[in-house]
Amino acid sequence: MTTLITGIALLATQHPEHGEIADAAIVLDGAHIAWVGAATSAPAADERIDVGGRAVIPGFVDSHAHLVFAGDRTAEFNARMAGTPYAAGGIHTTVTATRAASDVRLRANTARLAAELLAAGVTTFECKSGYGLDVGTERRSLLVAAEFTGETTFLGAHVVPRGVSREDYLDLLVGPMLDACAPHARWVDAFCEAGAFDADETRVVLTAGAARGLGIRLHANQLTAGPGAQLAVELGAASADHCTHLSDADVDALAGSDTVATLLPLAEFSTRSPYPDARRLLDAGVDVALATDCNPGSAYSTSMPLAVALAVREMRMTPAEAVHAATAGGARALRRKDIGAIAPGMCADLLVLDAPSPVHLAYRPGVPIVAQVWRAGSRVM
Ligand code: NIG
Ligand code: FE
Repeated sequence: MTTLITGIALLATQHPEHGEIADAAIVLDGAHIAWVGAATSAPAADERIDVGGRAVIPGFVDSHAHLVFAGDRTAEFNARMAGTPYAAGGIHTTVTATRAASDVRLRANTARLAAELLAAGVTTFECKSGYGLDVGTERRSLLVAAEFTGETTFLGAHVVPRGVSREDYLDLLVGPMLDACAPHARWVDAFCEAGAFDADETRVVLTAGAARGLGIRLHANQLTAGPGAQLAVELGAASADHCTHLSDADVDALAGSDTVATLLPLAEFSTRSPYPDARRLLDAGVDVALATDCNPGSAYSTSMPLAVALAVREMRMTPAEAVHAATAGGARALRRKDIGAIAPGMCADLLVLDAPSPVHLAYRPGVPIVAQVWRAGSRVM
């Protein structure tokens, strides 16, 4: 079954060969894209859909989200807005609630957030554990995550839980917890930060995960300048996430590597913190992605369009760079070649925007302009 989509005022493919095409058309063949080009030279198809002069972009790829948890952190948010700074310790509140929650509740909360992501135009998302911090709850967090995405990440190294020594927790992490979790994860992640894990501890955890076949990603340089970004490069991580406080040496290391810098402006927005300098990274040649970081502590938002708007307004990305980072950039941060761009052979994940160009994602902040969501060739929103 082939479908011809016409009436596309501007198609921003995010693909190097196809670029931006005005008055474009796309042909879908089942779950994949079969053809892109000018509407005047479009081939025939079984059915034809006219989107009425709107812009089309690939589905957003959210390469960093923490969706499996229970409870919320309203009190902490209130305190923060009254001046208390954000710190890693708030994670313990969510760990307590998550351990106490049934699988049914964890699944329902994850489903609710996954539905929000889809409505915001996210057609692929990564999802971390990290609010269990014991063997059973980390494992069931990953099992719940795996019901919603193939991009599951073991984040047992989020913080050292209360009531356990650092030494014992590290032994648990790289032993029984990894044994229980690795079969259900694609990635391993660690929070390399003051108050969480130092460089040596992070290296031990990530290396142990890699030895089980997991790909590496890490939370790096979020709250303080630290060793995370260079460690990500040293370990061949797919992505160093946050990258808010970077030295020149960190930027140079990232620029000379295959590690993507994933920026999470909803975290800076929600913690009232300085934003990462995306312009500095882009000008140095670093590959940049944008993601939501959706979690109950530092960024309780599923809005990729708002992340795009913040990246433009606050981080000096151009609208085109921000849209690229939220689509093709996210795909690279997940080492995926089948998503993040609109070109023949790629997965048919695309968004119809209620706007003549994708610039409106930044130009119309907070307005839900994602009018249609297509995933694997079917319209899902
Ligand atoms: O990416 N930085 C570590 N993890 C999350 C926040 C976790 C929390 O506060 O619950 C983040 O911002
Ligand atoms: Fe995070």
